[in-house]
Amino acid sequence: MITFNSKQKIFHLEGQGTSYVIGVSPREDFHHLYWGKSLSSKSLQKILRDWQKRAIETEHHISREFQTREFPDFGHNDLRAPAFQVKQADGSRVSEFLYVSHSITPGKPDFGLGPSSQVEDSDQVQTLRINLVDKLKKQELELYYTLYPQRNIVVRRTILRNKDAKPISLLKLMSSSLDFAPGPYRLVRFPGAWANERKMVEGPLLPGTTRLESRRGISSHEMNPFTMVTRGEATEEKGEVYGFALAYSGNWLMEAELFRTGGLRLNAGLNDFDFEWQLKPGENFTTPECVLAYSPNGYSQLSLDLHHFTREKVIRGTWQYKPRPILINNWEATYFKFNHDKLMKIAKAGKEAGIELFVLDDGWFGKRDNDTTSLGDWFVDKRKLPKGLRGLSDDIHGLGLKFGLWIEPEMISPQSQLYKKHPDWCLHVPGRKRRMARSQLVLDMSRPEIRDYLFDTISKALEEARVDYVKWDMNRSLSEVGNRVLSPQKQGELYHRYMMGVYDLMDRLNRRFPRVLFEGCSGGGARFDLGVLSYHPQIWTSDNTDGLERLFIQYATSFAYPPIAMGAHISSVPNHITHRSIPLKWRALVAMSGNFGVEADISKWSPRDRKELAGYIRFYKEIRPLVQFGDFYRLESPYNSLQTSWMFVNKTQTEALLFVFQVKPWTKGTKVPPIKLRGLNPSKTYEIKGEKLKISGKKMMKVGWLPKAFRTARGNYHSSLYRLI
Ligand code: GLA
Repeated sequence: MITFNSKQKIFHLEGQGTSYVIGVSPREDFHHLYWGKSLSSKSLQKILRDWQKRAIETEHHISREFQTREFPDFGHNDLRAPAFQVKQADGSRVSEFLYVSHSITPGKPDFGLGPSSQVEDSDQVQTLRINLVDKLKKQELELYYTLYPQRNIVVRRTILRNKDAKPISLLKLMSSSLDFAPGPYRLVRFPGAWANERKMVEGPLLPGTTRLESRRGISSHEMNPFTMVTRGEATEEKGEVYGFALAYSGNWLMEAELFRTGGLRLNAGLNDFDFEWQLKPGENFTTPECVLAYSPNGYSQLSLDLHHFTREKVIRGTWQYKPRPILINNWEATYFKFNHDKLMKIAKAGKEAGIELFVLDDGWFGKRDNDTTSLGDWFVDKRKLPKGLRGLSDDIHGLGLKFGLWIEPEMISPQSQLYKKHPDWCLHVPGRKRRMARSQLVLDMSRPEIRDYLFDTISKALEEARVDYVKWDMNRSLSEVGNRVLSPQKQGELYHRYMMGVYDLMDRLNRRFPRVLFEGCSGGGARFDLGVLSYHPQIWTSDNTDGLERLFIQYATSFAYPPIAMGAHISSVPNHITHRSIPLKWRALVAMSGNFGVEADISKWSPRDRKELAGYIRFYKEIRPLVQFGDFYRLESPYNSLQTSWMFVNKTQTEALLFVFQVKPWTKGTKVPPIKLRGLNPSKTYEIKGEKLKISGKKMMKVGWLPKAFRTARGNYHSSLYRLI
């Protein structure tokens, strides 16, 4: 739990297996002392003695750059990247905040609008609030640390209050900042692109500053707002791993500065690039949250903790613990070319195969025959759907399916009724060209009247059509981020105001339609983050549905995010993006490793393929609780193994699923190592269904097991799923 030792002036945040220690120095500066494995009181005392010696020496004689600080200011003699920067009314950008008080309280305060991890009554969660003050300028900083001890997770955020009589502007305010003692450190990042999201890239941290960030107004395809720092090399089971995940979907920054001492500073939060926030006297600014996780035992434990945390504390609402329906979506099947009958044909074939939800994607509104028109006109296109949305929805419901709808609320097409009426509703800089992407502009979500319009029109459509599911898309980055509404001084606030406006609309629609299942999407997975997951319990992982590409994407995504969050669909071959044809079994097993669905006109599939698909759907229904709520373990990586394997284990360890995919063909002389399973009960004997085999959990984990089919696997895309009971 969280304790304060008033004699030594240290805070100790103790999770089940971790310690996080912060100290107040003799000069009331704030120092980071330790974050890692649980400390015995003896080792804690040693750390304290060393620190007290060092803190006193350095505070008097040498630069603060030799201290490990917690939430450092800038402008004195620590010239590393600061955690914040305030522009004072007199133009100075130097400030000095010192510790004045703190409080430790059960639970977690309400921070108002925006993503916020939850606390339930039964949780033993505590929050530490530390108050720092800049006495000269009468500004106050509040640092919040909420400890989730069972998962070894600390959630951090910051508030800055301007208590001065003069206005100030905030140039930077991180959610979390801390200094690690000298390493060596390595960094794992997840860069990507459209249809190629989240590639895992690992390597040593080099001297200087590494900035992982987004300046696109969305968390982005280009880099995911999750990173891991490891002390030395880490594997799935070994090594110290520190994880940082931002619960934010706009411009973000993770800044890792490796200093000449070998120490590492890691700042995480809102991007300071193109950010400036005005604070009048009495106003304050609250940052988004950053989730900090630690594992002494490699990546696997960190992922498990984050998966549990995301399912239990981030995802909320009706669907939090509900099995997610298996859906069929018409996007790859029809694109914009559909009508009532065509959709019904797909839905009927879906129903026959065992599908539970039909989703009508882009193209149902305005005059949207391609991607150049109608965004903003959320009224049904009667040419395509003469019976209206309600007519379609009734017919779909009549089949015994649920009905889902695609929307892209944040966008406006210049060719739309909405644009004719409100040409100033998009983000724009007066006098400058409005640059399009996918032929569309971005609505200014910071403006309440625009959000009201969207809330009303979208609510009406959802209500009239009795919609059960919504896919909320967002298909471009922000540009010409300006408006005529905010004063010139406030233009630097617009990116964040945009994002808070989006969260506001998400929140209002969630409240208005509490039973509707929302799926986030952004050109596939450009907004795959804990911010979106706070409002939308699942996210479309990538537009790339090629089975082999998806193996890589889902593998890397799983480092931070649980399989239930990942929309994963089987599509037709040749694949619409890669033009590759991968066997149905492989495509099915990849999709069944996540939140399963289909993205194809299966009415055109051969009877044989439809029968095979029905078999997978039937089987997924059996294993769904295990996949969606079980523990997920990555066993072999697609990046450097002959085969990829992963598994799911239920809570009581009585059941498990092993998925194996042969990524590279076997060649003569290659010895394929046995797959070492994880998370099993060592003293239980498991039967591997269909293999006439019984092996103890201990043997499966220590010695491993290699299915016969993979010993010399050649040919095309072998894949298998084994059920252990
Ligand atoms: C994005 C989504 C797709 C699909 C299209 C529709 O690309 O990621 O799944 O909905 O938009 O335009």
